[in-house]
Amino acid sequence: MARLLIEGCKKLGGEVRVQGSKNSTLPILAATVLTKDENVLHNCPCLTDIDAALRILRYLGCKASRSGHTLVVNTKELTGDSIPDSLMREMRSSIIFLGAILARTGRARLYFPGGCELGPRPIDLHMDALRKMGAEITECHGEINCVARKGLRGAAIALSFPSVGATENIMIAACLAKGTTTITNAAREPEIEDLADYLNKCGGCIHNAGEGTLVIEGVESLHGTSHSIIPDRIVAATLMSAAAVTGSQIVLRDIIPAHLGAIMPAFEEAGCNINIKEGVMDFSSPQRLKAFRNVRTTPYPGFPTDAQAPVMAMATLAKGTTVFVETVFESRYKHVGEFLRLGAQVKAEGRVAVVEGVQNLYSSSLQAQDLRGSAALVVAALAAQGKSEINTTKYLERGYEDFDVVLSTLGAEIKKI
Ligand code: UD1
Repeated sequence: MARLLIEGCKKLGGEVRVQGSKNSTLPILAATVLTKDENVLHNCPCLTDIDAALRILRYLGCKASRSGHTLVVNTKELTGDSIPDSLMREMRSSIIFLGAILARTGRARLYFPGGCELGPRPIDLHMDALRKMGAEITECHGEINCVARKGLRGAAIALSFPSVGATENIMIAACLAKGTTTITNAAREPEIEDLADYLNKCGGCIHNAGEGTLVIEGVESLHGTSHSIIPDRIVAATLMSAAAVTGSQIVLRDIIPAHLGAIMPAFEEAGCNINIKEGVMDFSSPQRLKAFRNVRTTPYPGFPTDAQAPVMAMATLAKGTTVFVETVFESRYKHVGEFLRLGAQVKAEGRVAVVEGVQNLYSSSLQAQDLRGSAALVVAALAAQGKSEINTTKYLERGYEDFDVVLSTLGAEIKKI
């Protein structure tokens, strides 16, 4: 198992490009199933979660190959309508294949998805919506059996929470359903817009993506297309946190400022300077960070739950008290226990974490337990005096492409062994 060794307190500098978005690539890969055609996807990051999605496509009989950051997926052949438990467990996004397979074949058999442990992650919103669209769904010992005997039909769906995954599953299924589907209280994340852009290029008819009410008019068929994935806003936020904790100045390329609208104020209040021009961010951080206003994670356009852990790493060194309230997931403070080993002062109870900024962090041996928590440990270790060790890169590699190489390019002393 690969580990990370990080010698902290090195200043970062230079320029890197922000990778393509994992959370955009995954649903788009699932959506290719609808097209029965070749799709060329550019700017796809090299990640274990993406590899897992490609394995699912190949299991289903599709062709999928990678050349650098370009994926070519041909879904003309689809020899199966089921995904085995082992592949479903590899990541949470495997559930998005449900809407795609069901819309294409009228049936689907798969299992409850895996993914990071962030508290209970039910899929009731996905299932309720597909039932409303005409699917009969039975569950038995973790197996989910779906049949839409007369095909899927458009429906009016009101989500009780703007779930990203449920919105994606419904959008994909609705593209080939008979009639119009409306989703109220839909997720508004940039990744939803990217999926809608892709589907519309394929001949789909999706209106208002990025707004609270989505309208999808079903079409007879979709065709393949070429599409470039948006940059990953969470990776951008993580790199900004890394520069902030090390008092550094860095340049990030491939930035979409609107996607960072809820994140940037925290950095600015902490005393960082951010200038963005034509997709290039010039980021610089003061010698000592200041505590910032409370961070309350909420669905987009609010502060993203995925950026909570890396930004908390920054708060551990910011002078004063910063309060975090995690409203999206129940259990997303696993990194806190590891921060304490570095000398941070954080108290977490339930959904609230109170961070008293300290002057210095000190190296330690750390255990990664989930994807964004792993990234936060890397950020904290970059600021800690001495050599820290992170026990595994397996979570990090789900979402950060060659993060050790990216940080080394910026001057960090980080080694994967
Ligand atoms: C996606 C992102 C993940 C991010 C999350 C929230 C991908 C691949 N993953 O995950 O990185 O942290 O959005 O921004 O895009 N819920 C239900 N019932 C459901 C579905 C969700 O109760 O049927 C709850 C979840 O338990 C959670 C909340 O809704 O508390 C948000 O989940 P959701 O938006 O669905 O997240 P994911 O799509 O799994």
